[in-house]
This record gives sequence, C-alpha cells and structure tokens, in this order.
Amino acid sequence: MFSSLELIQVQNAALETHFADKLKVNRLLNRQLVSFQANKNKPGYRWFKYKEGFSEALVQRILDYLSLNKGRILDPFAGAGTTLFAASARGLDALGIEVLPVGTEIIEVRRQIQYGDLTAIPSLLDRWRRTQPWHHSYLTKPFPHLRITDGAFPHATQQALDRYLATLESETEAAAQLFRFVAMCVLEEISYTRKDGQYLRWDCRSERRQSSNRFDKGKILNFDEAIIRKIEDIYADLQSPGVLPGFLKCTGELGKIEVLRGSCLDVLPTLETGTFEGIITSPPYANRYDYTRTYALELALLGVDESELRTLRQAMLSCTVENRDKPGLENVFEAALYSRATSAFDHQQALQAILSYLEWQKSTKALNNAGIPRMVRNYFFELALVIFECARVLKPGALLVMVNDNVRYGGATIPVDLILSDFAEQAGFDVEVIWVLPSGKGNSSQQMGTHGREEVRKCIYIWRRRST
Ligand SMILES: C[S@@+](CC[C@H](N)C(=O)[O-])C[C@H]1O[C@@H](n2cnc3c(N)ncnc32)[C@H](O)[C@@H]1O
Repeated sequence: MFSSLELIQVQNAALETHFADKLKVNRLLNRQLVSFQANKNKPGYRWFKYKEGFSEALVQRILDYLSLNKGRILDPFAGAGTTLFAASARGLDALGIEVLPVGTEIIEVRRQIQYGDLTAIPSLLDRWRRTQPWHHSYLTKPFPHLRITDGAFPHATQQALDRYLATLESETEAAAQLFRFVAMCVLEEISYTRKDGQYLRWDCRSERRQSSNRFDKGKILNFDEAIIRKIEDIYADLQSPGVLPGFLKCTGELGKIEVLRGSCLDVLPTLETGTFEGIITSPPYANRYDYTRTYALELALLGVDESELRTLRQAMLSCTVENRDKPGLENVFEAALYSRATSAFDHQQALQAILSYLEWQKSTKALNNAGIPRMVRNYFFELALVIFECARVLKPGALLVMVNDNVRYGGATIPVDLILSDFAEQAGFDVEVIWVLPSGKGNSSQQMGTHGREEVRKCIYIWRRRST
C-alpha cells in the first residue's frame, strides 16, 4: 500500500515514461527569452513592462519553427500582445483573447500608434513633451483609487497626476487615450508599490507601512521625470530610422491584429472550427500570482471599480487561492466537447493522485493555505477545456506552442507539462516535443524550508493537431 506521496511519485514516473522521448533540454532557450526581460529595450515592447510576458525573440523563433508565411495565429492568453505583434510583423494575422483590461489597452493603443496615422502621433507626443500642458491646468481629476491602491503615490505625485488626468478631458478621445496609456506605463515607477507576483508590495516610506515592513523599492521617480521620459521613449521608437511602424524591419505587409476582451473560456467556444494556422500562448502559471492585485493601479486608472475588480478576479483562469469554482461552465461549451474534456481530467491518474493528496493535506492542516487544492483542481479543469477548444479551432496539422512552469505544493511536484500534454493527446494533438529550459527554478522559500530544494521544470510544449 502506497502513501499518497509515493502514489504521486509512481504516477508521475509513469507519465515521465510515457513522454520520455518527447522531453528534450533545449540549450538555445534561457530564462531571458521566455520572460519579459529580453523585451526590456525593444521598441514598442518596452513601453509597458508586462512582467508576465514572454519575449518577442522567443515568438520569432517559434514562428521560424512553424515556418508559416501566411494565415492566422491565435493567443487565447494574449497579455500585452507579444504573439500578436511579432506575428503581425511577419505578415500573419493575429487574434488575441485577454481578460485583463490592462492587456487589451496595451494592445489597442499600441496598435493605433503602430498602424494609425504616423504623422499625427509623433507631433502630438512632441507637443505634450514641449508644452507639458498639465502644468498649466488649475483643474484636477482625482485618480480613481481602489481600496488596495489608496495612498500609493507621494503627495506631490498624486497632485500632478490629478492635474494630468484633468488635462486629458480637453483633448480629443484618441489623444486622451494615448496620454492615459502613457500614464499607465509609469504608474508603478512613480508609486510606493512594486509588483511582486502574488501581491502588490508596499514601500516602507508609504503611509500604509507596517512596523515590520522594511521594504525599500529604491528611487521613486517624480511624475514629470517619469512621464516625460516615457513620452520621449515612445517618440524615439517612432523615429528610429529604417524601422517600419511594426518596429521590425519587415519587407512585406503587416498582418491584421484583433483583440477580444473577455475570458477565453467564454470566447473560444464562439470561434469557428478549423480556422487557425497556429497558437502561441502562455497561460497564467499555477503559482498563485494575482494579476488583479499586482495590476490594481493600472486597473484603477482604467476605471475598474471594486465590484468589477472582484468579477475580474473570478473570471481569470484559476491560479490564485481566491478563485472559486466557475459556475455554469457546462452551458458554455458544446456538450460533447465538455464531456471529453471532463473525461480527460477525471481519468488523468497523476493529477487525481495529486488532488487527493492535497485534499488530505488540507484536512490535516498541513497546507499553508486551504484554497490550494481547489485552485489546482480548477486550474487543470479549466485548462482541459481550453486545450480541447484550441484543438477544435486549429486547422489539421497546425501547431500549438505553450510556455508554462511546473509547480510544487505540499511537497508534491506537479508535472504541469506532462498532465497538460496528456490532455492534449486526448484532445486530438500529437505531442511533438516538450522543450525543457536548461535549468529550472526552485519553488517558494516556504516550500524549500519544509520539503527541501527541488528544481521544477520550465518548458515549452509543442503539440501538433492530428489530421483526423
Ligand atoms: C503569462 S500571461 C501571458 C503574457 C503574454 N504571453 C505576453 O507576452 O504578454 C497570461 C495572461 O493570461 C491572462 N488571463 C488569465 N485568465 C484569462 C482568461 N480566463 N481568459 C483570457 N486571458 C486570461 C492574464 O491576464 C495574463 O495576461
């Protein structure tokens, strides 16, 4: 008789054996490439630092691998639109789905700057940089704080920001959206906060400080410094010689970019069957990162109120302990597809062993948060549905490429890569290869303290839609 943890090891080992010839360490990959880091200085991509993004260079490599020169690419977790812009620069059309308004705003505004009237935007940026109209405004429009953002700015910054927002009211709608976007790009660096994965971290100089908090985020930029620098960066990117609006030297036409705001669980079932040549995506990892907290400042600026924030949190793919079960999913999907996805989930033995183990850990109060089993269960259930939908909307023979990390809870390693690849096989994909990054990373320090250090894999999965 095995203990639960041993059973997990046995089931994980069986999965490893099944996929043994697919798991391949790829020495051309590194952490920079699969994270936002490689975008830090890239024109267009550097405007808003979307920390959970992957790099444009990675998408280019994947597109080389896909060797497509026409067609339509999908990213159901579009984020800041890396897949969309990189695909478009090669002349491919791209559709993104994104639930977080921060992501859709970045994509929309960037698309307007990139594909819009290229004479109007640089001159608008230049005028604001030279005249700094917010200095001449006596009006203020209070930044629409949320409870979790109150007190985020030093007093002088708050006043400058309020005047800046008032100035937007006298601009055209397009100009107001552009300069609101510019403000959105600097909110973190002018605030007492830092995005820290699971939550928004507060600097000890803020009025929210607690006596135990010694966190110092370093230099906090003043409003003018930050906003002018951002306007200049965007202006400079638009002036770069020899660079087309697509920010890449491209010879052909730019592909069309479209973004749909909403949960991919709702939007995917509305897309036509067999219409995409490829999917390049990265869902939230099962790591408890709460985008609705870390992006609270940006969401507030975009006018998201308390109740919308709560709704948004629940609409996100379940990856935090606060995510509850999503009701009514069975009514969103076509019945046969829902039933096949449910069956893949129910019969995934490693996953079921992990879920029983986590429930048992919860009952003995051994987990540091009782919401973990529900989060893990729903994470996989929702992704099973997404994977089955992706198989449906892809053309036969097309590839799906997914970037994701494995995780570890309660001492159990969860092979997200292999569990999702198993779902993929049930959904009609052949697993072509699972590229493993040369070195994984440990889990939280809490986990390591209790269970010792163990590397978890960071992978890129490549699945090919079967023809029949
Ligand atoms: C890892 S990020 C993707 C980043 C993207 N690859 C990029 O380079 O910008 C995952 C994204 O999924 C989004 N997301 C979470 N739940 C979603 C859902 N149910 N439907 C659509 N998007 C969702 C998050 O808001 C986040 O932007």
